Amino acid sequence: MNEKRAWWKESVVYQIYPRSFSDSNGDGIGDLNGITEHLPYLKELGIDVIWLSPIYKSPNDDNGYDISDYREIMDEFGTMDDFDRMLARSHELGLKIVMDLVVNHTSDEHPWFIESRKSKDNKYRDYYIWKDGKGDNPPNNWQSLFSGPAWEYDETTGQYYLHCFTKKQADLNWENEKVRNAVYDMMTWWCDKGIDGFRMDVISMLSKDPDYPDGEVTDGIYGDLMPYVCNGPHVHEYIQEMNRRVLSKYDIMTVGEAAGVTIDEAKKYANSEGSELGMVFHFEHVNTDATTTPILGKWGYDHPDLKKLRPILNKWQLELEGKAWGSLYWDNHDQPRAVSRFGNDSEKYRVVSAKMLGTLLHMMKGTPYVYQGEELGMTNMVFTSPDDCKDVEEINAYRQYVTEHKMISSEVMLKCFSAVARDNARTPMQWNADKNAGFSTGTPWIAVNPNYVTINAEAAMADKDSVFYYYQKLIRLRHENDIIVYGQFRPLLEDSGEIYAYERTLDGKVLTVACNWTENTVSCDLFDPLAGEELISNYSEHIKGMLQPYEARVVLS
Ligand code: GLC
Ligand code: CA
Repeated sequence: MNEKRAWWKESVVYQIYPRSFSDSNGDGIGDLNGITEHLPYLKELGIDVIWLSPIYKSPNDDNGYDISDYREIMDEFGTMDDFDRMLARSHELGLKIVMDLVVNHTSDEHPWFIESRKSKDNKYRDYYIWKDGKGDNPPNNWQSLFSGPAWEYDETTGQYYLHCFTKKQADLNWENEKVRNAVYDMMTWWCDKGIDGFRMDVISMLSKDPDYPDGEVTDGIYGDLMPYVCNGPHVHEYIQEMNRRVLSKYDIMTVGEAAGVTIDEAKKYANSEGSELGMVFHFEHVNTDATTTPILGKWGYDHPDLKKLRPILNKWQLELEGKAWGSLYWDNHDQPRAVSRFGNDSEKYRVVSAKMLGTLLHMMKGTPYVYQGEELGMTNMVFTSPDDCKDVEEINAYRQYVTEHKMISSEVMLKCFSAVARDNARTPMQWNADKNAGFSTGTPWIAVNPNYVTINAEAAMADKDSVFYYYQKLIRLRHENDIIVYGQFRPLLEDSGEIYAYERTLDGKVLTVACNWTENTVSCDLFDPLAGEELISNYSEHIKGMLQPYEARVVLS
């Protein structure tokens, strides 16, 4: 085995979006006590690690990704005592807790920013990125990632501050050593509390191009900032410093959300020597539907084509081998539901295609992530009105493209939202068939998907053929078979437009995995004459030389 063992390589992570997970006090908003209540459910599923989307104090312009105090809990989510109880209970059950670390920016309501905007000579001025405008215009043409300009004019001092996301998310100035020290102190404080790691929000964006050049204008309005804010000149220096000062002192797991990351960059962020992070999330496979979009950017709604997806999946498996650890995911709180996007959420194929997707991902090399409700095969919403949108990204995009610039119709924008909007993943967790899917006794902050009557945890746990039990088995298999964690990856059937297949090898054993990406029965010669033990399949009977609609098979020989 050419890979160093680590607990986080052998783990499966479950992401909780606390706002939508479980509401314990009937105010319509999920909370920490709601999570604690449901820890036994996660134990039953078999996952090892829980990643919590941000739970810190926040005015919630971007649902907690805009933090106003890193050492306090968001009012709606509970108290620090609730947190400590949740952490202790998780540890008792053998579950680890990974916190979201959002340090590219803070809320404009963070005391640092409140000070910073007061005057040019304020002690906190340099905590953020302030620039003079160009005449009456902002310092450059960058568009924020949530629409509109990336610069906000502040009258008090007559300068602009940078915000790559909303104007309530001001970018911190990582060139300032005081900022870095303050962040490391805060991280140390949480580690000393006993948490088990960090998921680092847009960590690839810490270092900006010092020239702040205009970006390429692709939608006729603003310029693209990505090339100038991702993987900037000092980013690895900062992360190595963070590693020396904090990460290396604890046995924790780290995963960086690395917008704009290439494989070469990923090899640095997640290098096997361990001088930076454990692993990173890349975005290539979740961007394959964004190309034929009627407007630009992410709002595409074509079903991802296996021919486009395959080279991306293969490349990340092959090129990280032995050099860096990878992470595996289909969805999260920023992506639509996996089964609706990559599988088939019709009544006929939802369960079988959700299982196929789970197989494809969980048998690959890297640490798998399950997003809340994915284990139930939860689906996208249908957006029929802009009032359905709660997410600031959707609200701003609608305003910019539909209302202000009239570039596309409301109908098309809503079609885009129904396919890829983040709110698809943020509808409440479907626990049972009771009112509000058992999520809340009050009025949920976001509408429940009406299909909760049939798709819910209680129903899944009463059905031995459910997606839940299939995921439970996938997770157990990973714990029982080193080959699934550490085996080397080799692509198979590379010319197929219908089947995604690969093998994993370790110590003379071979794991063969094949997944039919389509609703047709297609021929597949991988399994006959293959002798071996079938570890898992979403069909109990096979047809010789064929794979049935969305069939997945895994054989160990
Ligand atoms: C990350 C988060 C996303 C958030 C953004 C700004 O991409 O996952 O939810 O809106 O960063 O913090
Ligand atoms: Ca609540």
